[in-house]
Amino acid sequence: MLIKRSPNGLDVPFSSEITPRAVFESRRHFMKQLAAGTLGSAALLELASREAFAQGVNPKLAGARNPAYSAMDKPTAYKDATSYNNFYEFGTDKSDPAQYAHTLKPRPWTVTIDGEVKKPLTLDLDALLKLAPIEERVYRLRCVEGWSMVIPWMGYSFSEIIKKVEPTGNAKYVEFTSLADKKQMPGVGSRVLEWPYVEGLRLDEARHPLALLTLGMYGETLPNQNGAPVRIVVPWKYGFKSAKSIVRIRFVKDQPRTAWNVAAPQEYGFYSNVNPEVDHPRWSQASERRIGEDSFFTRKRKTLMFNGYNDVASLYTGMDLRKYF
Ligand code: MTE
Repeated sequence: MLIKRSPNGLDVPFSSEITPRAVFESRRHFMKQLAAGTLGSAALLELASREAFAQGVNPKLAGARNPAYSAMDKPTAYKDATSYNNFYEFGTDKSDPAQYAHTLKPRPWTVTIDGEVKKPLTLDLDALLKLAPIEERVYRLRCVEGWSMVIPWMGYSFSEIIKKVEPTGNAKYVEFTSLADKKQMPGVGSRVLEWPYVEGLRLDEARHPLALLTLGMYGETLPNQNGAPVRIVVPWKYGFKSAKSIVRIRFVKDQPRTAWNVAAPQEYGFYSNVNPEVDHPRWSQASERRIGEDSFFTRKRKTLMFNGYNDVASLYTGMDLRKYF
């Protein structure tokens, strides 16, 4: 008989190898419910999540790749995409979110969708996951700071949500509000931004099929540091337009007051379309560094208008994009 030795060289397992009692019990309960066929998809995900979290990994989230909306660029390594982040609710250093976002509790979670709509809704994670088929879309995301990543996101067009709530004729903009809970987010309370983090889009921008209601990345649910459990990704705009950990979506008449525009209006406009021809007042926006590929010593790559998503140009016909930066 083969005796499996523990990798610590002793015949006792590491503490991490012992299934915690709570996990073991939930597993037993889960098996009973599974046999009885009484579990919904969210309950399955919830239990799979608990299992996965106990093992320190994110639960899987399946979705077929949509080639029509996928960049051919090489995706950024998962490790880079999850360790070099902006999520000021957890601190301002790039490494802070990965270090501190474990205190965020992404389940249970609800998103309230209201304002100028005929059918306001409050959706839990189950409802969000079931609202439309999940797709994988490989998008470039460029940060206003001059770096970019390529990420296989999982989600569906935000327009699916718009269809469900039926905006009234008064709705001209969509406002996205992130969670701001000091107990879960140590950076909330710092004065670097006004909390909660708010972002916004014009209604026709929000309706563009590229605007992605995002529930996962790399075939998994979102890691906390990337905005679990639900965020928006708007690939033709600077990264800060893509609000994380969203709790409220409001359809409004007037242009929303957005976090970065309030903090520094001369530096961050409402539109914030990626535009190599409009410099930030303190630096050029003409080039960028691809995280994990371009080093500080290699030439930066050229930034593309609308981050290369030229399809969105018609949204801005007749607008002076220097004025509406
Ligand atoms: N959303 C919230 N709530 N708080 C933030 O600080 N940072 C933004 C955006 N969304 C931010 C946020 C910025 S500046 C960027 S570049 C992207 O998230 C980064 O997303 P990523 O870490 O998943 O790449």
